[in-house]
Amino acid sequence: MKIGIDKIGFATSNYVLKLNDLAAARATDPEKLSKGLLLKELSIAPLTEDIITLGAAAADPILKSEDKEKIDMVIVATESSIDQSKAAAVFIHGLLAIQPFARSFEIKEACYGATAALDYAKLHIEKYPDSKVLVIASDIAKYGINTPGEPTQGAGAIAMLISKDPRILIFNEDNVAQTRDVMDFWRPNYSTTPYVNGLYSTQQYLDCLKTTWDEYQKRHKLSLKDFAAYCFHLPYPKLALKGLNKIMDKSLPQEQQDQLKENFEKSILYSQKVGNIYTGSLFLGLLSLLENSDNLKACDKIALFSYGSGAVAEIFSVSLVPGYENQLSRTRLEELDQRQALSVEEYEHIFFAEAELDAEGNASFSGYEDQSFALAEIAEHQRKYIKVEKSS
Ligand code: HMG
Repeated sequence: MKIGIDKIGFATSNYVLKLNDLAAARATDPEKLSKGLLLKELSIAPLTEDIITLGAAAADPILKSEDKEKIDMVIVATESSIDQSKAAAVFIHGLLAIQPFARSFEIKEACYGATAALDYAKLHIEKYPDSKVLVIASDIAKYGINTPGEPTQGAGAIAMLISKDPRILIFNEDNVAQTRDVMDFWRPNYSTTPYVNGLYSTQQYLDCLKTTWDEYQKRHKLSLKDFAAYCFHLPYPKLALKGLNKIMDKSLPQEQQDQLKENFEKSILYSQKVGNIYTGSLFLGLLSLLENSDNLKACDKIALFSYGSGAVAEIFSVSLVPGYENQLSRTRLEELDQRQALSVEEYEHIFFAEAELDAEGNASFSGYEDQSFALAEIAEHQRKYIKVEKSS
């Protein structure tokens, strides 16, 4: 049975911070961010936007009513949970009006979570071929003001509809995972921002890539020559470029090396404007590749490197389905250019604002007219979400 991704959706917030502005405010050379990290802009989420609203906004436009009848599992992968008990997937299941006899839960392992969710979704469809699984990767990456990670923040969600006979890509049976217990990046329950051993985290990322790729090639007798493109987890695109250079096989014909490099450039276009969206970053890279590459064709194989700090890595591959391009958007870059630019002062105010609850645990919010879904109020400590009605 062929199982894979039938539809992909993406949502980010309506506000953007230009990294040239951030560089000026932090007295940093702008080229450190544009060339040193390969980043241009970051999406900034206000208080009324969180992993629930972003996740629902990513999934809503791709789901038809027949999908909602067939979805019997909703998995949200995140490391930006809004509740320690209730899963984000339960809120999103409700907001999207998915049929009730479904399993909905949250899954976590830093930026790796969505890959585990896809693995589970595939096993589920193998057992129940007529069902569909909605996998959502939704995160808001916040490192804090004037930290080394500040330019690598971001906000966004990717939604993937998993089914048999998918129309975009098929999962190949070749996953190789690796777990190593390291403290490169973590966020204790009492902290709103992560602790990071920055340089160490980049070394772990690159070493997990190299060792997992070696094992993948050994187990599957495959090598770079078998792939048209390689997508990487994108904490910031420069690290992924280092990854590509690390595994590049210099004995490949120049034409194929050029194709891999060209496709890498296409895979980072969205992340350069959105920043790190943690567990969705790898799949934002995949979406950027599929929507912008002009040298891919049906049956091409794409390798994916998933990395979540802590750490778990996984390499797997997908094959493109004939007609895959009909399921994609060609206007995403223009849409990103329509976000409202913030000054650094506004960004500091909006991104780090906390809900101010009264003694009974109530707060109400406004200013979310441009969002698709919004956190409208907190009533007795319960978060209340709405689908925002658009006036025509
Ligand atoms: P930094 O202070 O930007 O580090 O922090 P840097 O001083 O090494 O500079 C970065 C690059 O800019 C260097 O290039 C400099 O040479 C260059 P490289 O040597 O690496 O090729 N540079 C310049 N280039 C042009 N013009 C200039 C200039 N000045 C310097 N004038 C760091 C970098 C990664 C530490 C920081 O961004 C950080 O802490 N980020 C957060 C952690 C992170 O993203 N780690 C990545 C691996 S871990 C991961 O991927 C998991 C994660 O997504 C979380 C999860 O799993 O949940 C983070």
